[in-house]
Amino acid sequence: MQTAERSVLLDRRRTMALLASAAVCGPSARAAADGGLRGRAAARGGLYGAAVTSRHIETRPELVAAIRTECGAVVPEFEMKWHAVEGTRGRRVLRGADRIVAFAAGEGLAVRGHTLLWPSKGKLPPWIEAWPDDDAHGLQATVDAHIADLAGRYRGRIVSWDVVNEAIEAKDGRADGLRRSVLLDRLGERYIDRAFELTRTHEPTARLIYNDYGVEHEIPWQVAKRGHVLGLLERLKARGVPIQGLGIQAHLRTDAPFDAAAFGSFLDRVGELGLLVEITELDVEDREGPADAAERDRQVAGLVRQFLDTCLARTSVVAVTTWGLSDATSWLADPRWGRKRQDGLPSRPLPLDASMERKPMWHAMDSAFAGAPRR
Ligand code: XIL
Repeated sequence: MQTAERSVLLDRRRTMALLASAAVCGPSARAAADGGLRGRAAARGGLYGAAVTSRHIETRPELVAAIRTECGAVVPEFEMKWHAVEGTRGRRVLRGADRIVAFAAGEGLAVRGHTLLWPSKGKLPPWIEAWPDDDAHGLQATVDAHIADLAGRYRGRIVSWDVVNEAIEAKDGRADGLRRSVLLDRLGERYIDRAFELTRTHEPTARLIYNDYGVEHEIPWQVAKRGHVLGLLERLKARGVPIQGLGIQAHLRTDAPFDAAAFGSFLDRVGELGLLVEITELDVEDREGPADAAERDRQVAGLVRQFLDTCLARTSVVAVTTWGLSDATSWLADPRWGRKRQDGLPSRPLPLDASMERKPMWHAMDSAFAGAPRR
């Protein structure tokens, strides 16, 4: 049996065991049986979930009801990130993450962990970014303690961890495309190896994932980034790092080309490394789309269908997570992140609209799951 196939088999057992143990006590297991994307994905041996925040869970009962129907998993949108957990050194705040993990357990949902190390500017705690030049040992010990604490806290309750997020940035000018950061500058590339090894030590069952964006569309910088991502994965595998998969964020855009054959070849090359793939943050920026919502929804759905058909044709693609479930809570509605439309109309990036009604994107995902070979 091929390495990737063996990983899928092991992985399915791991996912189903986690779901079975959680679903037994989850009051909403019945809801999932009525269908929803959770049921569609599970029927093909896959897992569908969405990003949430603890505030959404506590203040949006209509969203919670939709999560019960549609999701087999949730992932904290920001509450497990180091800069959110420990903005002030030594004062670790995990109430929100704990709330989400407890919610998932009560609802029979799997939990994705996101993310132990995110080296992008402003995504590490400021006191880490300001670490003294001459204390690499102290920095490594502090990173280790963070990973041990967070991975250990949720030990056995995380189906897959985004161990390292967005470690590649070609604009930083390195031949290997690695993102310059205090971690890379002080500890070298092996900070990535260490993060995976330590996570595995404290979390023996979760899939360990390297997560990144900007490999999906057929535009030059994204095609080039695929090469840098593959290079990193090859080096990690050659060094025996305990990595099980690549997370592809899939923040898609309707105004960028998508080449199913080229992207499919990229997925196949990841599979040839014996790695699984998770689609980890699917949404679609429709900024350049027409004002008419129905037409924009059709464009978004068409792209999502083509993208997911390409992904799910590979049984190494084992999970799909959207970055939110409803347009009402998308990060793209936040002017800090989403490029606002010229006409000021709200973006429509997710499977459900602001009233939790299923959109053409939902139907595109439903059809893609239904037409996929079983994992
Ligand atoms: C975003 C969240 O959605 C925002 O709420 C937060 O303020 C910033 O981060 N890639 C990632 C995610 O890996 O963690 C980011 O999430 C979106 C881009």
